[in-house]
Amino acid sequence: MLGTSPNPLSINLAGIDLRNPVILAAGTAGLLDELRDVLDLGLIGAVTTKSITPNPREGNNAWRILPLRAGMINAIGLANPGLDAFVESHAPRARAMPCKVFVSAAGFSIDDYVAVAANIDAYAADSGGVFTAIELNVSCPNVHTGTEFGSTPALITELLRAVRPVVKHCKLWPKLSPATGDLVGVAGAAISQGVDALTIGNTMPAMLIDVETRRPALSNITGGLSGPALHPVALKHVHDVYRKVAKGANVPIIAAGGVMRWEDAAEFILAGASAFQMGTALFADPRSPIDVCKGLSAWVKRQGKSNIGELVGALDLDSPRGPASDQTRKASSER
Ligand SMILES: Cc1cc2nc3c(=O)[nH]c(=O)nc-3n(C[C@H](O)[C@H](O)[C@H](O)COP(=O)(O)O)c2cc1C
Repeated sequence: MLGTSPNPLSINLAGIDLRNPVILAAGTAGLLDELRDVLDLGLIGAVTTKSITPNPREGNNAWRILPLRAGMINAIGLANPGLDAFVESHAPRARAMPCKVFVSAAGFSIDDYVAVAANIDAYAADSGGVFTAIELNVSCPNVHTGTEFGSTPALITELLRAVRPVVKHCKLWPKLSPATGDLVGVAGAAISQGVDALTIGNTMPAMLIDVETRRPALSNITGGLSGPALHPVALKHVHDVYRKVAKGANVPIIAAGGVMRWEDAAEFILAGASAFQMGTALFADPRSPIDVCKGLSAWVKRQGKSNIGELVGALDLDSPRGPASDQTRKASSER
């Protein structure tokens, strides 16, 4: 069209067209559309819902979320209204959302995941595609064994063998845990089961102690670390999974972990992510995705590219590595 320049941030993620690669992370943007009054959802790519379980859950008692110097620690306990109430009372609002909506599914047995995924997929089909993807939160413990569904290649294979066949209309991807000893193996196993993308990843197990009372600061004793402290850990996982399994299989990576500013997102893109999520940043400034998009657009231009997709995995591992540029040193010291 005359007079309009192409959007440098538009992407196609596993067949889903997104205005830009910014996705709001599960559990950090309300249940569905609650941030709409403070952030124009028409300026981001997609929202991920709070993780939905078959039955309603109140979650853990206070304290269940605490700020840290380098991020946050949370043990919300998957508080959500449950599948039926989500579908009946909340899902209809998704029709009015000006961005794509991905549903996060969680559970404590394989049947739980199958129930949520099958129902959400059927709702998406009946509603003309109001939901475009299902993200499986595989960091939940199996009630029978106590082991997380995403902790080993064998367990994620078993889960996906059951869930993959019931998801026919939405795209499907698991959200892997950075705490898994063998993330590349788990990612490879998920790819073998035909996932459309991989999210890397969830929070890192962590804890805080109140030294005066000598009690754990979180009622759940332990929780999940998110925000800036998580970013370099997630970055290395994205780098490893991209190079070792995802690139060869042509499966896109959605990165998550400590994107607070555009440089964090640019690092994920260079390491091999096609899109990224923002979570903790929204608590500090719910409009931060807009600044990240502005910074990324300018960076794509400075790199001489017309679209951010040209920079996916464009990390230069061949040139001799010297001291960091002044700009990078300054940016790193501020992060
Ligand atoms: C308060 C809070 C609640 C969260 N709830 C969920 C959830 O329901 N499901 C899920 O898969 N991840 C959940 N997460 C993890 C985030 O989606 C994200 O993976 C993680 O926070 C790392 O990204 P960040 O550093 O940008 O926050 C939650 C994180 C926070 C801070």
